[in-house]
Amino acid sequence: MELRDRVALITGATGGLGAVIADMLADVGTHVAITHLGHRDEGVEVCRHIEAKGRKSFLVHLDQTDPASCDATVEAAVQALGRLDILINNAAWNPALPIPDLQSLTPEIWDRSLNTNLRGPFLVTRAAAPHLKRQDQGRVVNIAGTVGLIPRGSLALAVSKAGLIHLTRCLAVALAPSIAVNCVVPGRLEGTRFVGVTPAAAMKDRSLLKRTPTLEDVARQVLLFCQSDSITGQAHVIDAGTVFH
Ligand SMILES: NC(=O)c1ccc[n+]([C@@H]2O[C@H](COP(=O)([O-])OP(=O)(O)OC[C@H]3O[C@@H](n4cnc5c(N)ncnc54)[C@H](OP(=O)(O)O)[C@@H]3O)[C@@H](O)[C@H]2O)c1
Repeated sequence: MELRDRVALITGATGGLGAVIADMLADVGTHVAITHLGHRDEGVEVCRHIEAKGRKSFLVHLDQTDPASCDATVEAAVQALGRLDILINNAAWNPALPIPDLQSLTPEIWDRSLNTNLRGPFLVTRAAAPHLKRQDQGRVVNIAGTVGLIPRGSLALAVSKAGLIHLTRCLAVALAPSIAVNCVVPGRLEGTRFVGVTPAAAMKDRSLLKRTPTLEDVARQVLLFCQSDSITGQAHVIDAGTVFH
């Protein structure tokens, strides 16, 4: 799919990976709507970057734990930019509790994790699907994480990302043949707000390629999924060879 003059909605693009994906999509000529929860000013800054590249941008509030907010966000983005071709489910919440600490993982933290990281992408995709179907081609890319493949990090985050990987496969079936749905599965990303407990040097040492993936590595794979006409239902790991080592 040619990305020039398409319209993308990226959830949670107030910084980190979402902002880099927004930047790269704008570089190839895509107009980009992004969402914020608490960091509105950072979202404004991301929109400035998109517009500096000559593309249209739109910033909208989204709390994806709230079904009404998911519907309203998609409608507002379509209203503002006129159509929707691409949805990137990037927003997530990391409770940052060590896996063995079951007592601190309260029902409230469990619910917030699963509602943000698993139910949210489902609800936003459900709201976006009719708009994506209206175009000749549609794309959904979910951002999971290697904690969804191996029990590391935070328990509720890990379970929600495992669910997101399987949700990707189920949605690929549900939305075929007009919408391709894929998933990027990054390892730990340096330079984001959340820095894991393992030092960066140890993460590099653990990987086959002796590095950690960059935000740009992951964003490039997101663009590749958007551009491809022949990939759906796939989860692509980008972790410099850590998961299987
Ligand atoms: N960082 C890593 O090492 C890493 C590794 C593997 C996978 N990932 C995944 O990559 C993606 C991006 O990670 P990141 O580190 O760049 O994220 P980040 O900077 O922490 O950004 C998270 C985004 O999600 C938004 N958000 C949080 N709760 C929300 C809710 N209830 N409704 C709507 N939006 C909400 C935040 O909005 P506000 O800023 O406005 O509050 C923010 O824009 C996530 O899916 C993450 O799980 C990250």
